[in-house]
Amino acid sequence: LVLVVDYGAQYAQLIARRVREANVYSEIISSKAGVEEILARQPSAIILSGGPASVYDPGAPTVDPQLFEAGVPVLGICYGFQAMAQALGGTVAKTGQREYGRTSLSITQGGCLLQSLPNTLNVWMSHGDSVSRAPKGFTVLARTAGAPVAAFEDVSRRLAGLQWHPEVLHSQWGQQVLEHFLFNIASLTPDWTAEHMVTEAIDAVRMTVGDRRVLCALSGGVDSAVAAALVQRAIGAQLTCVFVDHGLLREGEAEQVKNDFVAATGVELVVADERERFLAALKGVTDPEEKRKIIGREFIRTFEAQARELAGERGIDFLVQGTLYPDVVESGGGEGTANIKSHHNVGGLPDDLQFTLIEPLRHMFKDEVRAVGEELGLPEAMVWRHPFPGPGLGIRIIGEVTQERLEILRQADAIARHEVAEAKMERDIWQFPVVLLADVRSVGVQGDGRTYGHPIVLRPVVSDDAMTADWARLPHDLLERISSRITNECPDVNRVVLDITSKPPATIEWE
Ligand code: XMP
Repeated sequence: LVLVVDYGAQYAQLIARRVREANVYSEIISSKAGVEEILARQPSAIILSGGPASVYDPGAPTVDPQLFEAGVPVLGICYGFQAMAQALGGTVAKTGQREYGRTSLSITQGGCLLQSLPNTLNVWMSHGDSVSRAPKGFTVLARTAGAPVAAFEDVSRRLAGLQWHPEVLHSQWGQQVLEHFLFNIASLTPDWTAEHMVTEAIDAVRMTVGDRRVLCALSGGVDSAVAAALVQRAIGAQLTCVFVDHGLLREGEAEQVKNDFVAATGVELVVADERERFLAALKGVTDPEEKRKIIGREFIRTFEAQARELAGERGIDFLVQGTLYPDVVESGGGEGTANIKSHHNVGGLPDDLQFTLIEPLRHMFKDEVRAVGEELGLPEAMVWRHPFPGPGLGIRIIGEVTQERLEILRQADAIARHEVAEAKMERDIWQFPVVLLADVRSVGVQGDGRTYGHPIVLRPVVSDDAMTADWARLPHDLLERISSRITNECPDVNRVVLDITSKPPATIEWE
């Protein structure tokens, strides 16, 4: 276990991910944790992350020098580097010279940390103060114009530090520098692989569940699919999955769950075909919030009815949730290794059904979930599926949702997805909503005749976390193919438009 001590910037999660990319397991711990708490976790190495503070700020987080005496290898990054230098008796100077962004770094001595790198490289910096004198026993390895001591190490004590951010992609050789720390200085073994994650998650589920019964709601999304497949691998027939087919999925997705997923995993699946119920409930509704409420409500009612029935027949003790590690970190629950927490009316289940939640993906990042999905042999289209909103196509038809409109949108969406896949650009795009403006008409001409049809909006975006997004610059010939196929093949569509708004000010979805 490598513990990443979080000094309050967005970098800690990225560092933890990079460590895992080196096949070493890592977790994040708050900088508010004391030395004893950190060491009690028995980390095999510690990384102190960057953070927004200056070591001179009143109340700035500090590092207890005892941390460096425990014999555990430590790497300080950016703020963590400065806090480390200060704690060990070096000097951090208020130079007043800020370095921000891409900066040229000169390596004066490779040492263990920077061995076999070029003499100069571009690295990503973001600091005001800088270390002007390394603590006793440390060798200075590199400098920049604004940082006379930009990296140091004391190999005998297995301590090292960097002023720049090796975890960001803009830093050349960043991953290598991290790996030099992990493998050359801390002598760790790269054993955190998809296979290992699967074994560990299976053991944990078996321990928790014993011979009791588990329920899982499948949505068609990657998280619930991988969670269910893991639990199935662990406890087999003690798991029952419920899939509510609300008729608002994209082409082929319901079949993926009903056929391919079941074939790949052997999961026992209960399908609730509620397509008509959802359509009836949405009849005449055009307000986006109203639609969301109705879809949510109907979903819960259906799932609740299924859960009650199953609970009555066989009893259900656990409910699977596809919670990921970033959610755990963000809700402040990073500590501890428990992979269950008690159920608090999650997923809209009635309070009188008593469940315990089981969260087999609680320690994983999204890319790890995908790796585990592949390891478990899930269909590729499911593992690499883009995020898709729970209310589905219901909020991608602007106007009333009808069967006919769903069919048009499903067809247009399938064309866009097919062409993106053909162009091998699926993994360059975060998400690609296709939207039908059902209440808008425009004039067109097709063959010899005037048409008066509806526009389809293409909304491809790039993003890291959906909190902000930018419109994806797709190649013009790809856009042209999508446009011409949609207008030729989809009835009543005579115009295709591209949404070129970032988020903010727009959101990713139109409703
Ligand atoms: P917006 O439109 O707010 O969307 O930029 C951000 C991300 O959230 C997804 N989204 C949803 N996901 N249930 C979901 O599970 C929902 O009701 C929902 N609404 C939006 C959206 O697709 C995007 O990835």
